[in-house]
Amino acid sequence: MTRLADDLLVLARADQGRLPLNPESVSARTLMESAAARARSAAQLRGRRLVVRGDLGEDGLVYADPDRTAQALDNLITNALRYGDGTITLTAESGTDLVELHVIDEGSGFPEEVVERPFERFGRGPEARAAGPGSGLGLALVRAVASAHGGEAHARNRPDGGADVWITLPRRQARSL
Ligand SMILES: Nc1ncnc2c1ncn2[C@@H]1O[C@H](COP(=O)(O)OP(=O)(O)OP(=O)(O)O)[C@@H](O)[C@H]1O
Ligand SMILES: [Mg+2]
Repeated sequence: MTRLADDLLVLARADQGRLPLNPESVSARTLMESAAARARSAAQLRGRRLVVRGDLGEDGLVYADPDRTAQALDNLITNALRYGDGTITLTAESGTDLVELHVIDEGSGFPEEVVERPFERFGRGPEARAAGPGSGLGLALVRAVASAHGGEAHARNRPDGGADVWITLPRRQARSL
């Protein structure tokens, strides 16, 4: 319930174009390691592995609000635990002016009815509706947080199975210098 309330609040503020951000220079690796640490016991309970990959060093510094980014990563990891399978891999990749933060799993990927518009509000797959709680707002929050930073959210089903969902965040240099 708390998460739903938090997601709704962020979405409402983002809709009004005034999602408050407190950005700072932070390494993508740190953001992902903190997210992994928060999710570790939930993953262990389900017998799932959670790994953090990619060391971009200085190239991995982003200018982002750590709390909002954490909220987005937590939503992605919750999805990977709920709807995915196998190992969950958090990885940072370097783009031209931005850094990509990926959450990848080894499940069967997004269902057909969701994969075209995964970030749409209230869009949920049949298995998600059958599985119970959830509002279909988690990914909408993820996109709102990425957009507020000037970034984007993307999702795809990997050819060898599983979902790959990522956000892009500006590099530290893009705004702070
Ligand atoms: N890693 C994933 N693998 C397969 N399907 C996924 C994955 N992540 C999301 N989905 C599908 O996308 C739908 C939308 O996800 P979203 O996080 O927006 O909503 P939710 O998880 O159903 O509810 P909420 O996040 O509000 O609790 C899910 O219901 C599920 O069908
Ligand atoms: Mg969700």
